[in-house]
Amino acid sequence: MKIDLDKILSNFYEEAQGVKIPRDIDQLRIKYLGRRNGFLVRVTQEIPKLPVSKRRGIGSKVTEVRSAIERVLADKTKTESEKIRPDVDVTTPGKKTDVGSLHPLTLVIEEVKAIFHYLGFSWVDGPEVDSDLYNFQKLNMPPDHPARDVQQTYYINTDTLLRTHTSNMQVRYLETHQPPVRVLFPGRAYRRDMPDATHLPSFYQLEGLLVDATTSMTDLLGSLDYFAKKFFGEKSKIRIYGHNFPYTEPSIEVEVFHPEKGWIEILGAGMVHPNVLKNGKIDQDKFRGWAFGMGLDRLAMIKYGIHDIRVLYKNDLRFLTQF
Ligand code: PHE
Repeated sequence: MKIDLDKILSNFYEEAQGVKIPRDIDQLRIKYLGRRNGFLVRVTQEIPKLPVSKRRGIGSKVTEVRSAIERVLADKTKTESEKIRPDVDVTTPGKKTDVGSLHPLTLVIEEVKAIFHYLGFSWVDGPEVDSDLYNFQKLNMPPDHPARDVQQTYYINTDTLLRTHTSNMQVRYLETHQPPVRVLFPGRAYRRDMPDATHLPSFYQLEGLLVDATTSMTDLLGSLDYFAKKFFGEKSKIRIYGHNFPYTEPSIEVEVFHPEKGWIEILGAGMVHPNVLKNGKIDQDKFRGWAFGMGLDRLAMIKYGIHDIRVLYKNDLRFLTQF
């Protein structure tokens, strides 16, 4: 075989002229540079067969031709990819994508959890449809107890109801966990309330429960004060006064000071009643506990300056996108 690299190159130039689309460019590349059967490979295979006198310089000539071909092919791919979409203006600003955000109630739940997590609390979910037993009886409210206020409860049947508070988790949790207990129960609760700016039949609460050998009322007060300062700001103030819940003794209610609205009640709390500890199979000679239950909708309303609880559940984007 006669080796004529100049001829190969000029053939290539000729062939390359009409070639435009990527597939044809590839084919051209294979034809000339292909590793198995490309023209240049075949030439290289012939070199050893040449008389020594004719071999000189042929290696570098092959390299020269190869890079000339590569240059042309690379050039073609470049111009082709630009030509494919001549209408594309790469300087046009991009389209903006809407990004979602967390619901204000979710933000509040996560923040309260984070604050109490720092004090050693974890959290668990609980059933919203529950028995009269856990929602009332085991919390020291027998069937005829005045605090049940039947008007307010959604009964499914005589034994089953929609929980009226997250306190339904107290005994349920104690029955299956030994002290020390430090746990939060966030979730929905239900009461037969007429909807207005401050009431809805479904709302959110967050319960806290601590049972330990050495705890006392001062731990409860200190923890709640710590919570208020973290959640509403270091300058915020709480005040406490006596109250009555059948499942705590003594019981308190806590108010936080709001610059526009004055004192607002945010939670009920107290030392866990001995009967509740007993129902939870806790040894009363060794352990005591405290509990609190806060209204999360109210916390969100105070924190974000929301005047009507109903906007929290309307899914109006004009409201939601502010968070
Ligand atoms: N369950 C009470 C309520 O719904 C709050 C509370 C929880 C009070 C725990 C004392 C202890 O108002």
